[in-house]
Amino acid sequence: MKKESLSLEMIFFDSEKELETDDFQLLMQARAAAGKAYAPYSRFRVGAAVLLSNGLIILGNNQENAAYPSGLCAERVALFYAFSMYPDEKVVAIAVTALSEKAVINEPLTPCGSCRQVMAEYEKKADLNMRVIMQGQEGPVMVVESMKNLLPFSFLDEYLFKYSDE
Ligand code: THU
Repeated sequence: MKKESLSLEMIFFDSEKELETDDFQLLMQARAAAGKAYAPYSRFRVGAAVLLSNGLIILGNNQENAAYPSGLCAERVALFYAFSMYPDEKVVAIAVTALSEKAVINEPLTPCGSCRQVMAEYEKKADLNMRVIMQGQEGPVMVVESMKNLLPFSFLDEYLFKYSDE
């Protein structure tokens, strides 16, 4: 038996004002996208802004549906659109933020597990670290320099190459 441990790295900024200009602008675009979310059921609006290596910024927000599981998170709306249009690009950074009508969100929100899995695969495919910038409506911003800090042990394409006929 052996016990192992790993460490995760994240950076905290007191507010968006401390961010580098590019990250600040990406976050502001994510916030604008959140305002346009279709979230009539949760009233929890999430926005994502994806910076591609060609310099383009792709926006997305959560799209809900009366048949609840048919909806999709902001991160995947943005990433799937980005890779459907620009399949050979890499994601340099993604900003994620949310707006609530119930209370001001003053803590960084981290993407759900399904979105992390999708983000992790695009990072691996690109062989380029994906920076993730996360903030609520205000307050601290959390930044990770790679998806490895948000989803260690993601499910890997290698498993399928090795063990599946697919
Ligand atoms: N949501 C996102 O857009 N991204 C996440 O990472 C987690 C949750 C959305 C899905 C749903 O429309 C609403 O937030 C409440 O779960």
